[in-house]
Amino acid sequence: AIHLRDYAPPAWLIDTVDLAFDLREGATLVTSRLGIRRNPARAGEGPQPLVLDGQDMELLTVAVDNRLLTSDDYAQGPESLTIPAPAGETATVEIVTRIKPEENTALEGLYKSSGNYCTQCEAEGFRKITYFQDRPDVMAKYTVRIEAERAKYPVLLSNGNLVDQGESADGRHWTRWDDPWPKPCYLFALVAGKLVHIEDHFTTRSGRDVTLRIYVEPGNEDKCGHAMESLKKSMKWDEDAYGLEYDLDIFNIVAVGDFNMGAMENKSLNVFNTKYILARPDTATDMDFLGIEAVVAHEYFHNWTGNRVTCRDWFQLSLKEGLTVFRDQQFSADMNSAPVKRIQDVQRLRQVQFAEDAGPTAHPVRPESYIEINNFYTPTVYEKGAEVLRMYHTLLGAAGYRKGIDLYFARHDGQAVTTDDFLAAMRDANPDVSVDWEQFRRWYAQAGTPVVEGEGRYDADAKTYTLTLRQTLAPTPGQPEKLPMLVPVAMGLVGQDGQDLPLRLAGEDAPAATERVLLLTEAEQSFTFTGVASKPVPSLFRGFSAPVKLRFAYTDGDLTFLMANDSDAFNRWEAGQTLAAKIILGLVADRAAGRDMVVPQGFVAALGKALDRAGEDTSFAALALSLPTESYLGQLMEVIDVDGIHAARDLVKAAIGRTHRNALLKAYRDNADTGPFSVSPEAIGKRSCKNACLAYLMAAGDEEGRRLCLEQFRTAAGMTDVITALMLIADSDMPEREDCLAAFADKWKGEALVMDKWFSIQAMASHPDTVKRVTALLSHPSFSIRNPNKVYALVGGFSSNPVCFHAADGSGYAFLADRVIELNALNPQVASRMVKAFARWRKYDGERQAAAKVELERIAHTPNLSRDVYEIVARSLEG
Ligand code: ARG
Ligand code: ZN
Repeated sequence: AIHLRDYAPPAWLIDTVDLAFDLREGATLVTSRLGIRRNPARAGEGPQPLVLDGQDMELLTVAVDNRLLTSDDYAQGPESLTIPAPAGETATVEIVTRIKPEENTALEGLYKSSGNYCTQCEAEGFRKITYFQDRPDVMAKYTVRIEAERAKYPVLLSNGNLVDQGESADGRHWTRWDDPWPKPCYLFALVAGKLVHIEDHFTTRSGRDVTLRIYVEPGNEDKCGHAMESLKKSMKWDEDAYGLEYDLDIFNIVAVGDFNMGAMENKSLNVFNTKYILARPDTATDMDFLGIEAVVAHEYFHNWTGNRVTCRDWFQLSLKEGLTVFRDQQFSADMNSAPVKRIQDVQRLRQVQFAEDAGPTAHPVRPESYIEINNFYTPTVYEKGAEVLRMYHTLLGAAGYRKGIDLYFARHDGQAVTTDDFLAAMRDANPDVSVDWEQFRRWYAQAGTPVVEGEGRYDADAKTYTLTLRQTLAPTPGQPEKLPMLVPVAMGLVGQDGQDLPLRLAGEDAPAATERVLLLTEAEQSFTFTGVASKPVPSLFRGFSAPVKLRFAYTDGDLTFLMANDSDAFNRWEAGQTLAAKIILGLVADRAAGRDMVVPQGFVAALGKALDRAGEDTSFAALALSLPTESYLGQLMEVIDVDGIHAARDLVKAAIGRTHRNALLKAYRDNADTGPFSVSPEAIGKRSCKNACLAYLMAAGDEEGRRLCLEQFRTAAGMTDVITALMLIADSDMPEREDCLAAFADKWKGEALVMDKWFSIQAMASHPDTVKRVTALLSHPSFSIRNPNKVYALVGGFSSNPVCFHAADGSGYAFLADRVIELNALNPQVASRMVKAFARWRKYDGERQAAAKVELERIAHTPNLSRDVYEIVARSLEG
């Protein structure tokens, strides 16, 4: 394992890198000329050897200052090359390696995707291209020459500016690129292939004309428009919101079909998974369109938060990822509906990050050790990291936050820094803000989700309301003891008339606001509000002001009241979710005790009210109508009752569908017409509201609902409507089920991303035959175990199927273990992402635990187990 405490600056700096790629089938030659210099930070230590990282390559020659070394001169390890200390303060090192990108199934380093070469270097892929100090605190200026056969690879791209190009012998051609900005090697990129592009322009506020291009495989040119619009919006937004401008004359995006993650922010040459670029109304859903907007923005924003200022080491990953996710969340909130975006972000945080925080792979936002850094591109580093940024924003206010950001760039532009440096900039830019920053730092250091228990006491005589908050943080692996966190609690008190009351704490005489941020810093703290005329209902953690779990003894009446009256949209939604969870878990308990499950009419009626208000804000209504997911409900149980949760949730859905049949049909029809296709918040809202209604009608087995669903599947023009209908049909027992699935596959067999949806729908259907079907689909002509998107759709889809993956007979676990073992040999990163579905195995009953353990041990005993999979399996078996 690698530990944060062992960090030491490199003995040598690399100022310049001159790379030459000779791309050839079977053997690609890479020549690397490095201009190195002793690191002044380690002066006085005497001559130090140059230790370079490298793996999976053939080393051909090494020369220092133009003198060829013999193999006796240097030491080659399985993952390193040690060159004896050069005599001078500076030296030139030239290394030639041979690599085979065609055989690279791990999709890390230089690899081929449908005939085109591309790279993925973050985190440590550059060491599979050439020997190098593969660490982000080594920042250099790059020049790159790429040569390849012209007919097969007409497009040859790298970072920075195209400075020269020409023909060479045998039908080959070359380009030369120069990137003026120093960068760590993880931001290096190369693309070579038969690609077409669309082009647009953006003029920065200081007048720089930037050429924007999106490169795709021929045939996809008509699916790039939304990504291009998103890019231009991002560039404008970053100028307006952060004062950050683009710094080159060219910005390229390349979309590739085989990509482990979503996308990569390589300097001026972003490489994207096609999933986050390609969209046409008939092929992509509203969620896809929004995902593209967010990821294009995310990668663009990295140009400053990640590239201009980068990470000192990989423990600091959240320095760039938490910040950049927060920035893309702010951007999407500004482009669409802010409350809807916030709710969706919190849903995701709870679904995946809270689950991670509660299991054996829990780790702090700034981890302290890792075996394989690729395992730490997690919801904790990304999404919880973004919550930490949001808390700075809450504590400092928009203006104070911006002052901190400005100071961060003033101090650190061009540097590789730490989350402590970031915190220091925020603190130093806001000397008047009284926050205990040492305590705030614990958000980076302590893993786990804090639980805040609250209690309110109203004193009718004294007209005071006392809110008592207690926080606890459970032990996580390696962290048995925790200290209290600094928790910002944005809150209000809702009076009996539904209006927010003025908030004046005892002893204050300043004018009272109706909303404020309390700072919970102790294990237990009380806040007494004065002049409270009647008993209020507290609205706590408005806008989800801290990533915690709140436990407050609200009555069903309080929750219904907040659903209707809270001035904070997030908490109106939250009250409904809390109530729904309470009702469903009550039914689960009834079922477990052998009692009949009876859905309380009060809850069904409260949901009906949300339906009545659907016309006001359709997107919000769709969210207010949706029930907590099975996996989130599972997190609320000591031992997850897989079948009980499924049965109870289905029963509630059916009751809502039956009781509100007419209102649902009406809302469906009211929102059916969204006019000419648009992804405006209004149009998306109408579709999501309509489809939420359809889901309830289907859950109730309503005849008219089924008819509408079939009709929607057969006639809708947009993919959102088609796929929602197909999903509902696939999940039902309708006789048309197989025909609809077959018709869809027949229509879309040529569109890889659409077929991904088809695979995942079947993998997530809660049918008893799902595991069989998924096994059969592994041999479908459109499936490939080597394509990450396909694996995420079919295997990942299945592992998120709450009932079928956790089938009591262990068949789901055995299926997943087989795939993990198969993927381990091909693509360790993808294998590791898949094996994480086992991590929470101890939360299930004894029979399931036993079945999961057998599979985890089987994986653990696989020969040549990758570091990636080993780390997750070992932690899962330990924790
Ligand atoms: N920095 C990229 C992003 O946030 C993610 C790349 C991660 N890749 C990996 N193999 N770990 O968009
Ligand atoms: Zn990122």
